[in-house]
Amino acid sequence: MKIAVVFGTRPEIIKLSPVIRALEKFNADYFIIHTNQHYDENMDSIFLQELELPKPKYNLGIGSGTHANMTGKMLIEVEKIFLEEKPDLLIVQGDTNTVLAVSLAASKMHINIAHVEAGLRSYTKIPEETNRILTDRISDYCFTPTKKQETILKNEGIEEEKIHIVGNTIVDAAFQNLEIAKQKPDNLLKKLDFKPENYILLTTHREENVDNKTKLQDILTATDTISTKNNLPVVFPIHPRTQKNIEKFNIQIPQSIKTIEPTGYLDMLTLIQNAKLILTDSGGIQEEACILQTPCLTLRESTERPETVEVGGNIITDTNKEKIVEESQNIMNKNIDWKNPFGNGNTGELIVKTFL
Ligand code: UD1
Ligand code: UDP
Repeated sequence: MKIAVVFGTRPEIIKLSPVIRALEKFNADYFIIHTNQHYDENMDSIFLQELELPKPKYNLGIGSGTHANMTGKMLIEVEKIFLEEKPDLLIVQGDTNTVLAVSLAASKMHINIAHVEAGLRSYTKIPEETNRILTDRISDYCFTPTKKQETILKNEGIEEEKIHIVGNTIVDAAFQNLEIAKQKPDNLLKKLDFKPENYILLTTHREENVDNKTKLQDILTATDTISTKNNLPVVFPIHPRTQKNIEKFNIQIPQSIKTIEPTGYLDMLTLIQNAKLILTDSGGIQEEACILQTPCLTLRESTERPETVEVGGNIITDTNKEKIVEESQNIMNKNIDWKNPFGNGNTGELIVKTFL
């Protein structure tokens, strides 16, 4: 069986790395296509390097654009490669434009599709929801993190035999890299002069938050209030989308918030594990916070990771300033006694063993 693995953005590279390691381990016949939806060194190649991934055989060089522009270009370019390589199976992960575009191309060419992190739903009108619903619908293998997504998919009419509950590959990625992160000589905490358990980590990049001046400003104001109240400095690795909007909206970042470039994965694991509190709208960081037992507030109106809330590691605040400040105290005062709901760290192998 010939397998095409496709990724395009930072979280896809991280979350597919355990699957690629498993494909290597089992000597699978596979190749990688990178759409290059993300392309800055610190959004892309740093992860290929740190996670020691093989160089993609193809790079589509798509880059940024409007949703239709990006999706259309990817469809056209990936079809050419599928015609040439004739893979039997496509593996994709998550909910980006990359995932939908290449899955559509594969589906029409009768290439089987394996969707990693299937069945997640926010029940909000965001581009990612469209991408994941459509991809699940045309997938032959839906790999879900927990039983919750199995129930969602069954209720949507997806056949039971297509659904495999395997955990989330983010557990594999976090545990595979945490020890390496600890041994990294140029420790980012030292460089920032931050002490463990004595700072806040902020990340925000969601289109619905950072393309809206009020929401973006409210996130920064609330973070500043929490920082001042608790005497905790803030580190804010800025996604390029957010950076561009801060400039466009002419927003002043409060003094308490230390902005840095997007970090590599090893530095991010260190920042997540040692933070006193995380404020984020990232999907992956909600999961990693829960796995590494750091309290987290989610700056969105809902989460497709309800397991993190149910175990007590995450509270949904949206971008409501008062709620963010109030819930930050509540979650910091709680006992950290929750268990990771996303599997044992062998998800990559479980996925690959399904078809080999
Ligand atoms: C995309 C995904 C989102 C995911 C996120 C991970 C979609 C619809 N969205 O959002 O689900 O959470 O990736 O980070 O696929 N840019 C750069 N350099 C880069 C990449 C992006 O400057 O390397 C800037 C460009 O101005 C671009 C903007 O960021 O227009 C947004 O990038 P894009 O890939 O469209 O969406 P993300 O917000 O990154
Ligand atoms: N991440 C990183 N450096 C950063 C920000 C995020 O390594 O500066 C990692 C993070 O640990 C997680 C993944 O990128 O594994 C999440 O990506 P992102 O927040 O961009 O996307 P989402 O998960 O929301 O789709």
